Amino acid sequence: MNKKIMTGAIIMASTVVLSVSGIAFADRDEYHTDSYSMYKRSSTVTAVNNKLYTTECAACHFAYQPGWLPARSWKKMMQNLDDHFGENAELDQKTNDLLTQYLVAESADVKPHRKSHKVLRSIRAGATPQRISTLPYMLRKHDEIPARLITGNAKVGSAANCIACHTGASEGQFNEHGVKIPGYGPWED
Ligand code: HEC
Ligand code: HEC
Repeated sequence: MNKKIMTGAIIMASTVVLSVSGIAFADRDEYHTDSYSMYKRSSTVTAVNNKLYTTECAACHFAYQPGWLPARSWKKMMQNLDDHFGENAELDQKTNDLLTQYLVAESADVKPHRKSHKVLRSIRAGATPQRISTLPYMLRKHDEIPARLITGNAKVGSAANCIACHTGASEGQFNEHGVKIPGYGPWED
């Protein structure tokens, strides 16, 4: 086998492994087999419990839980706060260090929550996403919601406005039962 074919074979083999584990991980939040007990602790992400974080990072938007992105994403974001989605969100070095420490310690690849694990699995190898709302996992979870209820909805505005629809978002609760879309109501599948 030449190197190219070899690499292709490895990629294909890992895709098969990933999709098989995807089936095993089917969306049943209440039930887990022992082999996944590592993810048993919680089916959600850890709620934010850091005052510095809510003060500095939730002035302009929802206090996104660190468990929605891998450590490398948070590190990159914290190094580029002078150009943060078109805004200047720069912090002094000490505050930046403290918040980076917090974000990394609670990140998807450090805290093994099931939902964090699903997020990680959906990210392309080597990618360092900066948005939670456009992670493949999030796009998949929200693909049945028409745009008029998100971007076309003055009370929501953007898919990044989690708290507009997820009434339990601040507690880290995102299951569909807690959804109430402004101007629309609860979500029935
Ligand atoms: C000055 C305002 C401001 C501050 C302060 C701020 N942000 Fe943001 N942030 C934004 C804007 C604007 C966006 C883009 C929102 C959108 O597209 O709906 C954004 C987007 C994000 C997103 C991506 C949302 C998505 O699409 O999933 C993350 C994650 C994020 N911010 C984290 C942080 C963190 C961590 C801090 C603190 C270090 C922070 N932000 C502080 C303005 C701010
Ligand atoms: C316009 C309203 C709306 C916004 C904004 C929104 N969501 Fe959702 N979300 C929903 C609805 C509705 C569902 C259920 C979809 C379904 O079951 O078909 C859902 C499902 C989910 C799920 C899957 C829950 C499960 O148990 O399977 C997660 C996780 C989630 N959202 C996280 C987020 C995060 C994080 C944000 C912000 C970055 C966000 N959502 C923004 C409406 C929204």
